[in-house]
Amino acid sequence: MSRSLQSVLVTGGSGFIGANFIRYLFEQPSFTGQVVNLDALTYAGNPANLADLADAYGGSRYHFKRGDIRDFETLADIFSRYEIDTVVHFAAESHVDRSILGPRVFIETNVLGTSNLLEAARAAWKDRADVLFHHVSTDEVFGSLGEAGFFSEETLYDPKSPYSASKAGSDHLVRSWAHTYGLPATISNCTNNYGPYQFPEKMIPIMILNILEGKPLPVYGDGKNIRDWLYVTDHAEAIWMIMNAGGAGETYLVGGENEWENLTLVETLCDKVAAAAGRPASKARELITFVSDRPGHDRRYAVDCRKVKNELGWAQRHSFSEGLDATIRWYMENTEWVEQVRSGEYQKWIEDNYGRR
Ligand code: NAD
Ligand code: DAU
Repeated sequence: MSRSLQSVLVTGGSGFIGANFIRYLFEQPSFTGQVVNLDALTYAGNPANLADLADAYGGSRYHFKRGDIRDFETLADIFSRYEIDTVVHFAAESHVDRSILGPRVFIETNVLGTSNLLEAARAAWKDRADVLFHHVSTDEVFGSLGEAGFFSEETLYDPKSPYSASKAGSDHLVRSWAHTYGLPATISNCTNNYGPYQFPEKMIPIMILNILEGKPLPVYGDGKNIRDWLYVTDHAEAIWMIMNAGGAGETYLVGGENEWENLTLVETLCDKVAAAAGRPASKARELITFVSDRPGHDRRYAVDCRKVKNELGWAQRHSFSEGLDATIRWYMENTEWVEQVRSGEYQKWIEDNYGRR
C-alpha cells in the first residue's frame, strides 16, 4: 500500500535540519499535504527560521505548535486534531559538547521523548499501513572509526558520548516498536550536516563567524579528527525519498562521501571566508588556536551510503566547495539572525571550557 503523506508531523522543525527539511518539503510539487511543526523552542529552535513560510502557508498547510515531545498529552492531541499520518522526528538535543556538560536532558528528550512519540503514533494509527514514522538519527551511534573502513547498515552500535548513546537508545526504541507492534517505521543515520540556519555552536558556523570577527578559531586536540560533511538539503532530499519509497523497518545510512580532517577544513574556511570578505587569508589562518580536546572525542566518522543510493536513487547534489560558499554567504548576509541566536548562557560555559572565542 502506498503512503498517505498528507498530514506530516515534523518534530524539531524550528531547528537547523528540521527547518531546512520543511522548506525543502514545500518546494516539492509532489507534496500536497500539510505540515505540523511541533517544537519546544529550546535554545536551538528559532521560529525565525521559518517566518516567511509561516506567512505563506500559516493556518492552511503549515501549523506551528510550541510543545514538548516529553509531554504525551500534547502529542496525543496533535495526532487526533490534525489526523497525522506521517511523523518525521528531528526533535532532539543535538550537540555533543552539551551532552558532556549535562547529559540528563539528552536522555529525557532523545530517549523518553522518542518513546512518547512512538506511543502516540501507535495509539493513533492502530493497524494502519499507509502511515510512516521516520526517525532522524546520526552516524555517531556506531562509535569511532580508525583510519580505514566505513559504517554500514550492518555495523554494530557502539556509541561513545552521552549524545550518541541517547540517539542509539532512540534508534533501538524505534526498531523495537516496529518489530513488536508492527509500527511502520524507517530510520536514517546521517553524517555531519552544514548549511544555513545551523546554530553557531557547531564547528562550521563557529569558524565562519569567528573568522569574520577576527576571534580565535578553537581547534580541539590535534585537529586530526575526521568528519564527513553533507549539505543539509541533500539530507532533506534523502529523507523525502525514504518517506516515499523506503521499506518499512529499513535503516538507511546517508553521507557526503566527503571526509575532512578538522584542521584542513578550518584552513579551507579561513581561505574562503577571507576571500568572501576581501581580506588576506594569512591573517585568518593566524587565528587558529589549538585548545583542550573534547573528552572521549570520536576520531573518525564515514558511512557507506550505497543502500540509499542504489535502492532509492539518492545522490549528493552539492559539491563541498559550492555548499561552503553558499553557507558562508548566508552567515555574512544574516547578521541579525546570528546576533539573536548567539546571546545566552551557553556562551559562558563554552568559554569556561574551551577558552574565549
Ligand atoms: P538542532 O539542535 O538544531 O534542533 C533541534 C530542534 O529540536 C530545536 O528546534 C529544538 O527546539 C527542538 N527540541 C529539542 N528538544 C525538544 C523537545 N523536548 N520537544 C520538542 N522539540 C525539541 O538539531 P539539528 O542539528 O537540526 O538535528 C536534528 C536531528 O538530526 C537530531 O535528531 C539530530 O540527532 C539529527 N542529526 C543531526 C546531524 C547534524 O549534523 N546536525 C546529523 C545527523 C543527525
Ligand atoms: O555525525 C553527525 C553528528 O555531527 C550529529 O549527530 C550531531 O548532532 C552534530 O552536532 C555533529 O556532531 P560533531 O560532534 O561531529 O559536530 P561538531 O560541529 O560539534 O564538531 C565537528 C568536529 O569539530 C568535531 O571533531 C569536534 C571539532 N570541533 C568542534 C567545535 C564546535 C572543534 O575542533 N572546535 C569546535 O569549536
